[in-house]
Amino acid sequence: MLRSHLTLTITLLLFNSFLFTTSQQEEFIYSGFTSDGPSDVPLKLNGVSQIINDGILRLTNETSRQIGRAFYPMPLQFRSSDTGTAFSFSTAFAFAIVPEFKKLGGHGLAFTIAPSMEPNGALPSQYLGLLNSSDLGNRTNHMFAIELDTVQDFEFDDISDNHVGINLNSMVSNASANASYYGDDGTKFNLTLQSGNTIQAWVEYAGDQKLVTVSLSPFSSKPKKPTLSYSVDLSPIFMDKMYVGFSASTGLLASSHYIFGWSFKMNGAAKSLDLSSLPSLPKPKPKNTTLILAITLVFFAIVVVLAAIAGYIFYKIKTADIIEPWELNGPRRFSYGDLKRATRGFRDGNLLGLGGFGKVYKGVLPGSKTQVAVKRISHGSRQGLPEFVAEIASIGRLRHRNLVQLQGWCRRRNDLLLVYDYMPNGSLDGFLFCDVSASPEKKNRHLTWSQRFHILKGIASALLYLHEEWEHVVLHRDVKASNVLLDADFNGRLGDFGLAKLHEHGANPSTTRVVGTIGYLAPEMTRTGRATTGSDVFAFGAMVLEVVCGRRPIEPKAAPEEVVLIDWVRDRWAAGSWADVVDPKLEGDYNRNEVAVAIKVGLMCSHPDQAARPSMREVVRYLEGGDASAVPKVATPEQLRDYEKQSNVGFDNFVHSYPSSSFDKVSTWSSTMTTTGGNDGRSEVELGPDGYIPVSQLSHGSSVV
Ligand SMILES: *[C@@H]1O[C@H](CO)[C@@H](O)[C@H](O)[C@H]1NC(C)=O
Ligand SMILES: *[C@@H]1O[C@H](CO)[C@@H](O)[C@H](O)[C@H]1NC(C)=O
Ligand SMILES: *[C@@H]1O[C@H](CO)[C@@H](O)[C@H](O)[C@H]1NC(C)=O
Ligand SMILES: *[C@@H]1O[C@H](CO)[C@@H](O)[C@H](O)[C@H]1NC(C)=O
Ligand SMILES: *[C@@H]1O[C@H](CO)[C@@H](O)[C@H](O)[C@H]1NC(C)=O
Ligand SMILES: *[C@@H]1O[C@H](CO)[C@@H](O)[C@H](O)[C@H]1NC(C)=O
Ligand SMILES: *[C@@H]1O[C@H](CO)[C@@H](O)[C@H](O)[C@H]1NC(C)=O
Repeated sequence: MLRSHLTLTITLLLFNSFLFTTSQQEEFIYSGFTSDGPSDVPLKLNGVSQIINDGILRLTNETSRQIGRAFYPMPLQFRSSDTGTAFSFSTAFAFAIVPEFKKLGGHGLAFTIAPSMEPNGALPSQYLGLLNSSDLGNRTNHMFAIELDTVQDFEFDDISDNHVGINLNSMVSNASANASYYGDDGTKFNLTLQSGNTIQAWVEYAGDQKLVTVSLSPFSSKPKKPTLSYSVDLSPIFMDKMYVGFSASTGLLASSHYIFGWSFKMNGAAKSLDLSSLPSLPKPKPKNTTLILAITLVFFAIVVVLAAIAGYIFYKIKTADIIEPWELNGPRRFSYGDLKRATRGFRDGNLLGLGGFGKVYKGVLPGSKTQVAVKRISHGSRQGLPEFVAEIASIGRLRHRNLVQLQGWCRRRNDLLLVYDYMPNGSLDGFLFCDVSASPEKKNRHLTWSQRFHILKGIASALLYLHEEWEHVVLHRDVKASNVLLDADFNGRLGDFGLAKLHEHGANPSTTRVVGTIGYLAPEMTRTGRATTGSDVFAFGAMVLEVVCGRRPIEPKAAPEEVVLIDWVRDRWAAGSWADVVDPKLEGDYNRNEVAVAIKVGLMCSHPDQAARPSMREVVRYLEGGDASAVPKVATPEQLRDYEKQSNVGFDNFVHSYPSSSFDKVSTWSSTMTTTGGNDGRSEVELGPDGYIPVSQLSHGSSVV
C-alpha cells in the first residue's frame, strides 16, 4: 500500500513558485512502497533494488558486489537560489539489515542527498554506491550522506562495524557514532544494525543552527536525545536542486538491505513512522501441521534406520574385533578390512622390513590415500594382549616431532596391527651400514656428520620427552639404530616405543623375559630383568657410538679387541686416539668438537653403574651445547675395573646364567656377549633380521627371575 502524499495541493504548488520560493513545504510519506494508488509517486529504482512483496523496498539481496538505489523521482529545492543558503529538512525512515551469515554481512546503506540519482562511476562495497576511489572528498561531489555501516573500513577510519556516520563529499565520516539510542531518561542502549530487526532513523538539518542530527531507535517515536549531531553549514555541500533517496551496496560480505517506510519534509518536522503499521519481513515459513507430521515421520524413520545400522555395526565389532572401553580417547581404531586393502592383502611386495616384533608393510589408506606403515605383530597367546593394547593406545597419545606417530591400531584374534606414519627414508641403520662401494646408487645413502649429529639430538629429545616430559614415564626398552627412522627431511624419529613390553608379558607371570638387543642391554637389566630409564640411557649411549663409528655394537667379524664397540672406543678414548674409531665413511669430514661430545656422551651413557649415567636431560644439554669441554670426564678403563671389583657383580654372573657354549668370552663391562669362541674366533651366532643379535639368541637362559 502506497500512501504517499504531496501535502501541497495543485493550487499551492502553483502559488508556490510565486510565493514560497525561499521556503518550500514539500512533504511525503511512504508507509510501504506499493505503487497502486493513482496519486502515488513511485520511487526511481536502479541497480539491484526492487520493491518486493507487501511493498518492501529491498535495496540489495545477498549477492556480492552489488549496488541498489532508490530515489524520490523529482529533484527537490534544498538551497535558496537567491541566497545560496541550505534549507532545513527532516526525514524518518525504517530499515532492516539482514546479513548473509549471522553477524557477517556488508556493507551498509545510506540516506543520501546527491546531485544525481545515478552517480557516475560509483562503486559498491565500502563506497555504498555513492562515490568512487578517485572522487573521494572532492567538493564537486555535492554529496550528503548518513551511512549505516556494518563493515569497519580502516581506509575510511571507521570506528567499528556497527556505526552511523555523517559523510560530506567523502566516505570518511565527518562525525560518527556506534549504533545506539537514548531512552527518555538519557540511558544509552546499544543497537545492532545488522540484527535483522526494524530500526527507525531520523535525520534532521536545522538551517538556522547549522546542525545535523541523527537519531536511531527500534521504536516508533523519536528519542529526545540524538545518537549523533554535527555542526556544519550544508550550504556549500548542496546545490540548489538535489535528489534524495537511499543507496546500499554489498561487497564480499553481503546483506539484504530493506526500507519499509519513509517520511520526508522540507522546512519542517517529518512525521515519525508507526513501525507497527509498516510491512514487515516475511517470517520464517508458517508451520504447516501436515508438513510437521511428515517431517516427524521421516525423522523417526531415519532414527530407526540409524539405530539398526548402529546395532549391526556394534554387533560386527563385538564379534570381529574386540572393543575396548578406553578406545574413544586413544589413537584411532582401524578396520581390519581397511588395513588389508591398504597393504594389498599384506603382500610381500609391500613389505618394508622385518622389525624386532613383526613384519612391517607399506600401505596406502583407502579414502584419505595417506601412506602408512603397518606393523603386524603376531602374539602367541591372547594372554596379556588386552592390557597391552590399552597401553599402546595410551602411548599413541604421545606427540613429539622425533617420535614416529602411532596413528591407530587394529586387533584381530591374536594379531595386533599398528599403523604408523610412513617414513620415506627408512631406518638409520640402513644408512649407517650400507656398503657405499657396492653400487653408485647407494652413494646417496650416506649421512654426513651434521646429519648424524642432528639425528642424535632429535632422538635424545624424544627420549627426554618419554622419560620426563609426558604424563608418566614411558620406557622405550629397545633403543637402537634400526628403531630410528628418518623422515623426508632426515629428522630422526624414534619408533617402536613401548613395544618391547609386549614381549615381557611372558606366559609365566613369575618370570620376566629380557627383551632387547645384545650390545644395547644395560648390565643391570640382565641381572634384574627390569627396564629403567637408566637402561634406555645405556642403549642410547650404545647407539651414539654406533652412529659415530658406523658399525654395530657387537661385530663378530671384527678383530678381537674391536668386537665390542664400547670397549674399543673406551680404550681409544683413554689412549687419546679416538679419531681411529670415527666412521671411515665420513672420510675425515666432521666437526671434531661435536664428534668428541658424541663419544663422551656415548661412553658416559654406557657406564656399567646405572647411577653414574647421565639423565636424558643432561644428555640433551651436552649435545645441544656441542662443547666437548662442557661434558664431564668419562671413566677410564681402569676405573671401571675397580668398580667391577668393588661391586662384585661381574659380568660372569650374567654369563653363568647362560650356559650356551657359543658364548664363551664375555667382554668386561660391556654387558654384552661376544661371539669370538670356537677355533677360528668366529661364532655360529645368528643375526636378527635387522643385523643385530637379539636376546632370543640366549633363548633357554634368558628368563631372569
Ligand atoms: C539477488 O537478486 C538477483 C536479481 O533479482 C538474483 O539474480 C539473485 O539470484 C539474487 N540473489 C540471491 C542470493 O537471492
Ligand atoms: C568517479 O566518479 C566521477 C564522478 O563523481 C567520475 O567522473 C569518474 O569517472 C569516476 N571514476 C571512476 C574510476 O569510475
Ligand atoms: C574534483 O572533480 C573535478 C571534476 O570531477 C576535477 O576536475 C577535479 O580535478 C577534482 N579535484 C580533485 C582535488 O580531485
Ligand atoms: C568534513 O566536511 C568538510 C566539508 O564541510 C570537509 O571539507 C572536511 O574534509 C570533512 N572533514 C572530515 C574529517 O572528513
Ligand atoms: C564502538 O564500538 C567498538 C566495539 O564495537 C568499540 O571498540 C569502540 O570503542 C566504540 N567507539 C565509540 C566511539 O564508542
Ligand atoms: C554497548 O557497546 C559498548 C561498545 O561496544 C560496550 O562497551 C558496552 O558494554 C555495550 N553496552 C551494553 C549494555 O551492551
Ligand atoms: C629421502 O626421502 C625423500 C622424500 O621421500 C626423497 O626425496 C629422498 O630421495 C630420500 N633420500 C634418500 C637418500 O633416500
